[in-house]
Amino acid sequence: MEQHTASDVEPERPSAARVYDYYLGGSHNFAVDRAMAEQAIRILPELPANMRANRAFLRRAVRFMIAQGVRQFLDLGSGIPTVGNVHEVALSEAPDARVVYVDSDPVAVAHSQSILEDVAQATIVQADVTDPAVVIGHARRQLDFDRPIGVLMVALLHFVPETANPRALIAHYRDAVTPGSFLAISHGTADQQGDRGPQLEALYSRSANPLVSRDKATIESYFDGYELVEPGVVFVPLWRPDPGSLPSSTPPERTATYAGVGRVR
Ligand SMILES: C[S@@+](CC[C@H](N)C(=O)[O-])C[C@H]1O[C@@H](n2cnc3c(N)ncnc32)[C@H](O)[C@@H]1O
Repeated sequence: MEQHTASDVEPERPSAARVYDYYLGGSHNFAVDRAMAEQAIRILPELPANMRANRAFLRRAVRFMIAQGVRQFLDLGSGIPTVGNVHEVALSEAPDARVVYVDSDPVAVAHSQSILEDVAQATIVQADVTDPAVVIGHARRQLDFDRPIGVLMVALLHFVPETANPRALIAHYRDAVTPGSFLAISHGTADQQGDRGPQLEALYSRSANPLVSRDKATIESYFDGYELVEPGVVFVPLWRPDPGSLPSSTPPERTATYAGVGRVR
């Protein structure tokens, strides 16, 4: 694993990982992150609830993949772990599961290292997901690429600009895994958001991770080469809600986040 030093941390510029940690009630954030998060919450007051809805999707997607026989996970842009991490969900359902977490943020990596110290079946790699050859090289040390892998790009791709060619990036990961593997995506959108979408993009443009909202058709097209699992790409609370869970009083589109899962053909 690549090592990082405290000097990698940029405390003077908000980072997506630390701002997200603040939305989720964590303590791994600095004053600049909290200030930006509060500004974002003024634009879209549901943001903290939306982030919890996104985490809930992540857990449902992992459980779905486990039910399909997947035992290995590659969590790209894994963030600063809060409760209900991929390895916790996966290991509670399948004790033989293995997880490789990947994030470029030094605070996310340091925190992941500390919580994974005693977890033999999960590891964290500090790398840029837009360099798939490097990421896959690391992952191959832990995961068997001849067996299905659940690739998770949850709340990640809206931080991947067009210049990094997200479509080619997704295709690279798709072509590295075997049929029967899965891809989960959740992605921020400006669809049905009025002027809130552009306002959030303008705010995040001042952070280390500018935000790129994309529309539903674009996110659906990211599943080219995959069989899209029912119900397709939908607002995040609508993706296979847990049976018996109460619908939120907030309209699903207020999450400003689409989610979908595809199976590699
Ligand atoms: C909003 S958080 C999402 C965390 C987690 N996937 C979730 O949904 O709960 C986005 C994460 O992606 C990471 N990230 C953004 N761009 C990245 C890149 N090019 N390479 C690696 N990680 C990246 C950020 O550091 C951050 O931790």
